[in-house]
Amino acid sequence: MTPQHIELVKSTVPVLRENGVALTQYFYNRMLTNNPDLKNIFNMDHQSSGRQPRALAAAVLAYAENIENPSVLAKAVEHIATKHVSLDIQADQYSIVGENLLHSISEVLNVPFESDLIAAWKEAYLQLADILINAEKAKYDGLATQNGGWAGWRTFEISAIEETAEGKKFTLKPQDGNTIPASEPKYYISVKVQVPNHDIQQPQQFTFAEAQQGNDYQIVVKPEQQKTEFSVANILLDHYNVGDTVQVTAPLIG
Ligand code: HEM
Repeated sequence: MTPQHIELVKSTVPVLRENGVALTQYFYNRMLTNNPDLKNIFNMDHQSSGRQPRALAAAVLAYAENIENPSVLAKAVEHIATKHVSLDIQADQYSIVGENLLHSISEVLNVPFESDLIAAWKEAYLQLADILINAEKAKYDGLATQNGGWAGWRTFEISAIEETAEGKKFTLKPQDGNTIPASEPKYYISVKVQVPNHDIQQPQQFTFAEAQQGNDYQIVVKPEQQKTEFSVANILLDHYNVGDTVQVTAPLIG
């Protein structure tokens, strides 16, 4: 990026931040309308609460503020990359997010899409996307090469459901019958379910309470207070039985 690009980007961060809600709402509406497939990976509960939309745009703005010194954001990059890998986010999806984000910035700042300012934001976005894509690639490679490991989604069968004091304990066995990596408390997996009466799937992360050392994983599923039709925990509790299958990503921490 040229010094002029950097100045342009940094000078617009405050006004974008002030209009954070408009920016993120416009961005998500635009992106999910044009790319309805993404409804299968973005948690629709988080969308309606506004939690995730704010997180993504806030991360881009924080990055732009520290654009001359991206190492400040190393911890955030590690956290975001881990979450993305747990959701099987792919490099080619960055151009979809980028295009929609740039259009949203142009809209909120009321500047033409074909302008120096948006060109500068494009450079900034590409720089951040590149950092995340590389961090994610290293993680996918690491997951795929560990003993019993895999990258992306793998089909697991629910082999038992037991009542416990904390909630229902689901035991998940890989459908292919092959080995799976051992894991530790605080590691999490994403579990993806089919949403009843909707043609979409929804993922959610579940953190292990105990070490996992066998041929299956055990997660405790607690009912969510706010019952919406997209709540993965409630869908598992109300609609899934022993013998049903779900999609699972490999354990990660971060
Ligand atoms: C430079 C680009 C991006 C940035 C800065 C970014 C940032 C973030 C942040 C901060 C979070 C929240 C992490 C947390 O839960 O603590 C997040 C989650 C997420 N990101 Fe990204 N992201 C980017 C690109 C993408 C792309 C390309 C996709 C795929 C289309 C994507 C999909 C998701 C999903 C599905 C979640 C979880 C959201 C949920 O809770 O439903 N992100 N991202």
